[in-house]
Amino acid sequence: MSPARTLPLDVSKLRTEFPVLSRAMRGKRLAYLDSGATSLKPRSVLEAERAYYEQLSSNIHRGVYEFSERATILYDEARTKAAGLINAAAAREVIFTRGTTESINLVGYSWGRKFLKPGDEILTSEFEHHSNIVVWQEVAKATGAVLRFFPLLPHAEGLDPEQLETAFSERTRIVAITGMSNVTGYKPPLRRIAELAHERGAVVLVDGAQMACHEPVDVQALDIDFLAFSAHKMCGPTGIGVLYGRESLLEAMDPFLYGGDMIERVWKDRSTYAQLPEKFEAGTPHIAGAIGFGAACDFVQGVGLEAIAAHERELLDYCLARTRARDDITVYGGINTDDRGGIFSFNFADVHAHDVGMILDSHGVAVRAGFHCAQPLMRVFGVAGTTRASFYMYTDRSDIDALFDGLDAVRKIFL
Ligand code: ALA
Repeated sequence: MSPARTLPLDVSKLRTEFPVLSRAMRGKRLAYLDSGATSLKPRSVLEAERAYYEQLSSNIHRGVYEFSERATILYDEARTKAAGLINAAAAREVIFTRGTTESINLVGYSWGRKFLKPGDEILTSEFEHHSNIVVWQEVAKATGAVLRFFPLLPHAEGLDPEQLETAFSERTRIVAITGMSNVTGYKPPLRRIAELAHERGAVVLVDGAQMACHEPVDVQALDIDFLAFSAHKMCGPTGIGVLYGRESLLEAMDPFLYGGDMIERVWKDRSTYAQLPEKFEAGTPHIAGAIGFGAACDFVQGVGLEAIAAHERELLDYCLARTRARDDITVYGGINTDDRGGIFSFNFADVHAHDVGMILDSHGVAVRAGFHCAQPLMRVFGVAGTTRASFYMYTDRSDIDALFDGLDAVRKIFL
């Protein structure tokens, strides 16, 4: 991993790297507060993808000519960079997928359906994105395993630490848990969860979609078994992501998809499969995406994930401080920013989140409004949806000020 940087970010300089930030929205300065949905892309990532298509357009692992070999090298280098980003022990533990959702499905199919037996337990939480619940519902249906949920604190600020251990049973085989809630930014105690799981012989899958892009992640220090994350949330292209898996587990699993590149030998009636990581990468991969992802790994590490996390926490503190002065905003996720990332989810009086989102849009403020692919959590909060502002390295205080100016306009219209 690159050395941690804790110097404050030079946000105004950083913003010049992101072409989208120079556009307006509805004739206003754009305040992009939807990085939880997808991050903006810096020039270096756009250029890396473009250079592949312009100079190296060819398939990988097949061509015997010069620029196909170069494309192969760049693709393989991207894997090494992604492995470095999360401190995987080896690049072969990094499988390229279409993104977090596919990575979780891969574990569901290739590990869950193979190893879970009737009565085994899958432990998850109501903080999960649908992709880390629905997959496990289906795996439970197919195997006879049972889905269980960690108890939450009374106001759903987080998992109840007093009931963390008792949520496990002798039948717990896998914990499927978010690294950072896409609704509230809550970060569960992953190290402790991994310890409790491993004491019982269970494995841990972390949905890192909102985590790997916003703070340093070390899969060996966390001692987790699987980590799923997407490039597009960390300055990279859409359509590519990673499943990190502990080598011994990936070796024991069957392939997920079958076809070219993942085989070793094929006869008319049977086949043998390639070694890791190709065993899990059937067909022509998203080559340009992987190369762009490699550039994104360089970019975020160059900026520094420690510095990004510190910057986002400062923005969240600023947001929460501005909220404290008002009585028309309900914040979800509590006010302790020690175990939260840069996500601010709220409702404005009794105004529907979509109405809030539309008025903010007319003020140049881009947010997400709705249930955020997290209906079980909305039920816990007793709401149909929330408005969510989510931050990244390029977010600045003027973006937050624009949000609150927009909320003043909501107030004028509705209250
Ligand atoms: N999972 C993404 C979000 O939270 C799309 O917005």
